[in-house]
Amino acid sequence: MMDLDQLNEIALRMVAPGKGILAADESTGTIGKRFEGIGLENTETNRRNWREMLFRTEPAMSEHISGVILYDETLRQSSDDGTRLAELIAKAGAVPGIKVDTGAKDLAGAPGEKITEGLDGLRDRLNEYYELGARFAKWRAVINIGANGDESMPSQYCIGVNTHALARYAALCQEANIVPIVEPEVIMEGDHDIERCFEVTEYTLRKLYAELFDQGVVLEGTVLKPNMVISGSKCAEQASREEVAELTVQCLMNTVPAAVPGIAFLSGGQSDEDATAHLSIMNEGFDLPWPMTFSYGRALQAAPLKAWNGSNVEAGQAAFNHRARMNGLASLGEWNESLEQAAE
Ligand code: 13P
Repeated sequence: MMDLDQLNEIALRMVAPGKGILAADESTGTIGKRFEGIGLENTETNRRNWREMLFRTEPAMSEHISGVILYDETLRQSSDDGTRLAELIAKAGAVPGIKVDTGAKDLAGAPGEKITEGLDGLRDRLNEYYELGARFAKWRAVINIGANGDESMPSQYCIGVNTHALARYAALCQEANIVPIVEPEVIMEGDHDIERCFEVTEYTLRKLYAELFDQGVVLEGTVLKPNMVISGSKCAEQASREEVAELTVQCLMNTVPAAVPGIAFLSGGQSDEDATAHLSIMNEGFDLPWPMTFSYGRALQAAPLKAWNGSNVEAGQAAFNHRARMNGLASLGEWNESLEQAAE
C-alpha cells in the first residue's frame, strides 16, 4: 500500500538544509569513460573501490550528502569486509537510491532526439530495489535543443513522450513506496542562447506537471531534478552567473508547484565552481517556495576522481570532502569564492 507520509518524509530528507544528493549512478559504459580520463581499467573491482572510497568519506557523507543515486550493480555490491555499499550509505545517515531507467535511445521518426526507456518490467524491479534498501529512484529524460536556431527541435512529440514516460515511472515508484526523482534534462551542449534554454525548459516543465497530474502522481512524494537555465556550451555569448540564477529561479517559479518538497539540480557539464556558485546565488538572493539543492554527478566527482587516481584514498576523500562542503554551503546560500581559494 502506498504510504504518502513515508514518501513525503523521504523526499524532505533528500533536500534537508545544508545537504544534497550524490549522483553516483553512471552506467558501466559511462563510468568507463570517466575512468579513461585517469587511465584506469573499467573492472567491477575498480568501480566498487572508487564508489566505496566516496561512501566512506567523512564528514562529507554524514554532513553534506542526503542521498546517493546508485547503479544496479552498486546496490548489490559489498566491500571486502562484507558490508553492503548501500549499508555504508545508510549508516552515514544518507538515503540509498537507484537509477531505474535503461538509458536514452534514438526516438523513432525524430532524428537527433531521444526517448528514455525502462518501463517494461519496472514494477517488479522497483519491488526488488525496495527490498535491497532503495528508498528513492531516478529517471532521466533527455531534451536536445536544435543547432543554428533550428526551432523544430525539441519537437512537441519528443517532449510529450518523454514527460509521459516520466509520469508513468513516477506513478509506479509511488506505488512501490519509492520517491521518484523526476529529471527532464534540457541539454546544455549546443550553440543556443540562454533565452532559448529558458523557453524550452519552461515548456518542458509545464508539460511534465500536466502529465504528473493526469497520471495521479502525488507531488508531495516527488523531487524535481532539473537543469539550470543556462547558455548553450557553444554559444558565443555566455550569460553571467547572476543571469543564470535569476532566469533559473524565474523559470521554476513559473512552472513548479509549491507542493513539490524540493528541487535538486543536475550539473550537466558546468564547471565544478559554476555549479556551486549558481546554486549559492539562487539560495542567497531569492525567496523560494521550495528548498533548492544539488544532485550532482560530474561536479561532485570530477575532482575526487582525479585526486584518487585509482588508489589514493586520502587525496580522493579530501577532494570529495571539499566539494561536498562547498555545495552544502551553496544549498544554504553561504558559499563564496574565497572558500575555494582557501582550500588550494
Ligand atoms: P551531472 O551532475 O553530471 O549532470 O549528473 C547528474 C545526473 O544524475 C544526470 O542524470
